[in-house]
Amino acid sequence: MNDEEYVLISKAIKTYLDIDLGFYKPGQMQRRLTAFVERNGKCSVEEFCEKLPNDDELREALRTFLTINVTEFFRDAAQFDALRTTVLPEIIRNSPSPKIWSAGSSRGNEAYSVAMYMDQIKPGLDYTLLGTDIDEGSIEISRNGGPYPDAEVKNAPALSRQKYFEKRDTGWYVKPEIVSKAKFGKLNLLSDRFERNFDLIMCRNVVIYFSDEAKQTLNEKFVASLKPDGVLFVGGTETILNPKMFGLERFATSLYRKVDEPMSAAA
Ligand SMILES: C[S@@+](CC[C@H](N)C(=O)[O-])C[C@H]1O[C@@H](n2cnc3c(N)ncnc32)[C@H](O)[C@@H]1O
Repeated sequence: MNDEEYVLISKAIKTYLDIDLGFYKPGQMQRRLTAFVERNGKCSVEEFCEKLPNDDELREALRTFLTINVTEFFRDAAQFDALRTTVLPEIIRNSPSPKIWSAGSSRGNEAYSVAMYMDQIKPGLDYTLLGTDIDEGSIEISRNGGPYPDAEVKNAPALSRQKYFEKRDTGWYVKPEIVSKAKFGKLNLLSDRFERNFDLIMCRNVVIYFSDEAKQTLNEKFVASLKPDGVLFVGGTETILNPKMFGLERFATSLYRKVDEPMSAAA
């Protein structure tokens, strides 16, 4: 698609999906959308834009494609292990009722992985666990605690699988005692206001297609939403360049601690 077509499809996506492509890396997004239109629309960009308001299935396929909601329980085993052995015990020691946020929570796998750890480390502890995503279908599965396919559960240690999941005909479900620990809601990380006072914010595998400016604003908002000494947990392949600029200090792979207030607190 050429630049004019990209402007056209960006407008249609803003109107019918309420997703602002201005926050995403333009070259990469243009190439991805070209492939999507070729595969799914089999028509010109102009015709594709005309189809969008009337074709629910196409709109939902495009939303899923743009937001990419691939996820797993205990994704990146080594880093989740660091969470279990170091980060969560420390948070529990220092905070009487910890506040944790999975930002871009997809189907809730990340939030529930933490709830399972909390149950192992300090059963019965009072804590707040929030999961938010832009995709309503994912939020619905999160609230329902499933169903999850085998592929998303494969990293769960055998004992956790036994204790916290049940297998039904439609897939795996998280047991109600874990489901009751988390609350899920819709939130657009690129435009909505954030709650404050989090001990831990997890934002993993969400920002890969965001522009550098969007990532910078997001990091500032996250830091403003963390308590002093709060922890930001990012994806296995993600690095925050110049964490000091945001008032962060890297202390392990994918883990950053708030050591200062960010220069501009935008949350
Ligand atoms: C690849 S999944 C990552 C899920 C989980 N954090 C993990 O690492 O397994 C990315 C999620 O980010 C969500 N997302 C993308 N853009 C978003 C935005 N602007 N605001 C909120 N969520 C967004 C998608 O809907 C998707 O569920």
